[in-house]
Amino acid sequence: MSTQHPPPPGSDRLRQRIRAEIAAHGPIPFARFMERALYEPGLGYYTGPRTKIGKEGDFYTSLDVHPVFGRLIGAQVVEMSRALPEGPFTVVEMGAGKGLLAFDILRAVRDTAPALFARLRYAIVDISPDLMARQQRLLAEFSGCITWHSGLEELAPVRGVLLSNELVDSLPHHQVVMTAGGLREVFVAVAGERFVERLAPPSSPELAQTFEKRNLTLPEGYRTEINLAARRWMRLAAERLDAGYVLTIDYGYPATTLYRSDRRTGSFLCYHRHMVSEDPYARVGEQDMTAHVDFSALADAGMAAGLTLDGFTDQAHFLVGLGISTWMQQVLDRDGGDPENSDEFRSMRRLMDPLGMGKAFKVLVQRRGVPPQPLSGLQFRAFDVSDLTLPESPPESPP
Ligand SMILES: C[S@@+](CC[C@H](N)C(=O)[O-])C[C@H]1O[C@@H](n2cnc3c(N)ncnc32)[C@H](O)[C@@H]1O
Repeated sequence: MSTQHPPPPGSDRLRQRIRAEIAAHGPIPFARFMERALYEPGLGYYTGPRTKIGKEGDFYTSLDVHPVFGRLIGAQVVEMSRALPEGPFTVVEMGAGKGLLAFDILRAVRDTAPALFARLRYAIVDISPDLMARQQRLLAEFSGCITWHSGLEELAPVRGVLLSNELVDSLPHHQVVMTAGGLREVFVAVAGERFVERLAPPSSPELAQTFEKRNLTLPEGYRTEINLAARRWMRLAAERLDAGYVLTIDYGYPATTLYRSDRRTGSFLCYHRHMVSEDPYARVGEQDMTAHVDFSALADAGMAAGLTLDGFTDQAHFLVGLGISTWMQQVLDRDGGDPENSDEFRSMRRLMDPLGMGKAFKVLVQRRGVPPQPLSGLQFRAFDVSDLTLPESPPESPP
């Protein structure tokens, strides 16, 4: 008789693998733990088969709220294309989730700018084979102009737009704590069957430099996140861009706000079935983990790689600049004028909510090799670009 047991569920196998790494090499930086929990091939939260985004998943993004979000980004892409000469124009979407943004952008370009659509290439870069398969099903009607890639390294130099929505917050970040003895990093160790945290000197000098370069003093006991992977990603994206724009949408702040002394516990959160927790060691591989984005670090990384900072605003101002009010008025008129009788109007309003998505989400626009031109999405700015940069940052150089 067979004595074989079924293999342990995915999350058990993932925990075993992480424990084995710690047993072999000692405690690992939190960033390494997060990398394996989210992206371990076949077993991580994003790389496994779990339904992640939307009602049946763990969290919503703006794409789930209303397609006007993607349609307006499509309009922004059409406007950006005018800064580039005729010829192939490529949109690279990094971290495409279910493929909804690609779908809405492609529809917007096809419907409003057929000549651009005829020369448009759409490249999706995603780390998740599961989400890639979902994207391919949704985007079947556009398959003639889309290519899929597992890394930015696979792309030829891009003339066009590199864009992302809620990619950066999900890249693995380091966690640090200020102690009486100076800055310490959070490492993950094992005690019995459990993951436990240990503080030790930082694994990279870049961690302390994040605060030193902006003269930020953290009080004792302060705990926060630092996303070095986001800076590497921005460098790589900038290097891929031959001419055009980088458009980054995510929740976050300039460094001086993100690391303000009263934000003592950082912004780390986990999402599981639309419930929020702060425990990364529960449901390993079955919950998303995120932290707010340091947009100053993205701006710095882009400038160091030769990008010009074009603008920084919040989602509400961005969408108003692109004309969401007209769309909302049309829907309201169609539904009789009372917002309470229009689910669709209320969904659109959610994208603009000053206590939610409208203010929490920010939009960063950088460019290379194209002349400055007014962009509708940046006409109403919630911030000045100097809010992001260091005093010693170089002034905008002519293209
Ligand atoms: C939070 S989801 C956002 C999805 C979608 N943009 C949206 O707003 O609905 C993050 C996406 O980024 C992808 N991703 C995470 N890390 C990545 C990486 N290093 N390279 C490419 N894609 C990545 C995930 O697979 C997922 O599709």
